[in-house]
Amino acid sequence: MPQLAYVNGRIGPLADASLHIEDRGTQFGDAVYEVCAVMNGRILDWDPHLVRLRRNLAELGIVLDIADGPLTLQARRLIAANGHAECIIYMQVSRGTAKRDHAFPGAAPANLVMTVRRFDFAQRLRQLETGIAVITQPDTRWGRVDIKTTGLLPNVLAKQAAKQAGAFEAWLVSGDTVREGSSTNAWIVKDGRIITHPTGTAILPGIARDSLIRLAREAQLVVEQRPFTLAEAMAADEAFLTSTTAPILPVVRIDGQAVGNSTTGGKTGPIVRRLAELTWNEVARQTGWRA
Ligand code: PDD
Repeated sequence: MPQLAYVNGRIGPLADASLHIEDRGTQFGDAVYEVCAVMNGRILDWDPHLVRLRRNLAELGIVLDIADGPLTLQARRLIAANGHAECIIYMQVSRGTAKRDHAFPGAAPANLVMTVRRFDFAQRLRQLETGIAVITQPDTRWGRVDIKTTGLLPNVLAKQAAKQAGAFEAWLVSGDTVREGSSTNAWIVKDGRIITHPTGTAILPGIARDSLIRLAREAQLVVEQRPFTLAEAMAADEAFLTSTTAPILPVVRIDGQAVGNSTTGGKTGPIVRRLAELTWNEVARQTGWRA
């Protein structure tokens, strides 16, 4: 079956899908996006993704002329048309197509595109056993990374550095504070306390992050939203990351050093295992998906 994409109201072959070369997303990164997980044909955490999308559009003054109901229907139509039960859906809204000028164009309607890509979520369960490695990179991003824009060059460069180092992710460090990963939120565990950077303007408020905080607290676990340093991460009992495409993964090495003490170091720890259980149970509750 050919892959299908959505462009401004039309679903057609991905190979033919296009935007004008003067789309402001291309020229200025003047666009926001969302990535949602689809398991068992159902979109995980759809409502929070919609809320974040609307907030980001409002922050940038981009007017998207489609209400939540029809947008939801179009997203579901595209998922069904592509026929993958397990996939991710990517949605991008730019400020529209206009003659290149930094200031906002007068009357250009926003451009909305959506693509769907098959995704193997079961690999994330296998990675729970092995864990993954991260390296650190300086956080060179702009001051409003809470807005999920397509201007991701620093993230791209950091992820590439991680890949070249044989790591899964790069943790972005500002001063001595670990902010988040290039495309994931960052967490450590110390003395039973689960610690992650607070929301604000310095990290993306991840949907998986939010969900994990709620699930952990419901399970009577202690979550602290506060900045933590790289030294704290190096001395942590456990570490992990979260995102839509990696709902929870243990971080077992940071810059080549094993996380945890000499007996448990470099292995998936008990709190991450418990959080993974809570996370995947929630996935099953929402979507019915089980590996
Ligand atoms: N990335 N931090 C950054 C910088 C991100 O780009 C992402 C998501 C996250 C996690 O957010 P969420 O839990 O809502 O996925 C944190 C997506 C998946 C991406 O760009 O592909």
